[in-house]
Amino acid sequence: MSEMLLRIDGKEVTAREGMTVLEAARSADIFIPTLCHHEKLEPYGGCRLCTVEVESRGRTNLVASCLYPVERDLVVRTRSAVVDKIRKLILELLLAHAPDSTELKELAKTYGANKDRFEKEPQFCILCGLCVRYCAEVKKKNVIGFVDNGGKREISFIPELAAKECWDCKECYPLCPTSYLQAAYHLTEAIAFPWLSTKRLPTREET
Ligand code: SF4
Ligand code: FES
Repeated sequence: MSEMLLRIDGKEVTAREGMTVLEAARSADIFIPTLCHHEKLEPYGGCRLCTVEVESRGRTNLVASCLYPVERDLVVRTRSAVVDKIRKLILELLLAHAPDSTELKELAKTYGANKDRFEKEPQFCILCGLCVRYCAEVKKKNVIGFVDNGGKREISFIPELAAKECWDCKECYPLCPTSYLQAAYHLTEAIAFPWLSTKRLPTREET
């Protein structure tokens, strides 16, 4: 695979063909924030927090760095005024849904996002899809999925599968930027298979 040079925040970076701008930046220790990206998962492009400004052949565009492939002589700006403004707005919108998320609050400090700018509509899940995709792509279990659409879209555990697969896994827990996932699992457990949390054997009626 051929190598190429690009410039990220003024720094010359060598990247391999096929890498994304995010991967190239990370290989050079240049930080770009992400919420829906995970190196073990297929690119998703859902949160847009990784937006950067790219300049190529005299044209400037805003792109999701987790999806955008590197190009020879590409110029990338990860902290231009417009990039910071977009990230600030994204964080303000997400904080209306998940006001207690530590990860979002930390990012809000960096980008000067006001957590009270938009009316609160707490759903706690920001629909990054990390849990759903990790369970499907890495664990190949498909225990969690999205249900409903639009404003009602949410994640949901399939109780019968969760009772069998989750108790000794829970690899998705640390991926969640809001802790909603843990709450959703405990709720599923309490309703559908309480014997796992109380460590008692299921009665015949419960199985
Ligand atoms: S529960 Fe957490 S990891 Fe899963 S989609 Fe929602 S915010 Fe993302
Ligand atoms: S990390 Fe790129 S769109 Fe979410």
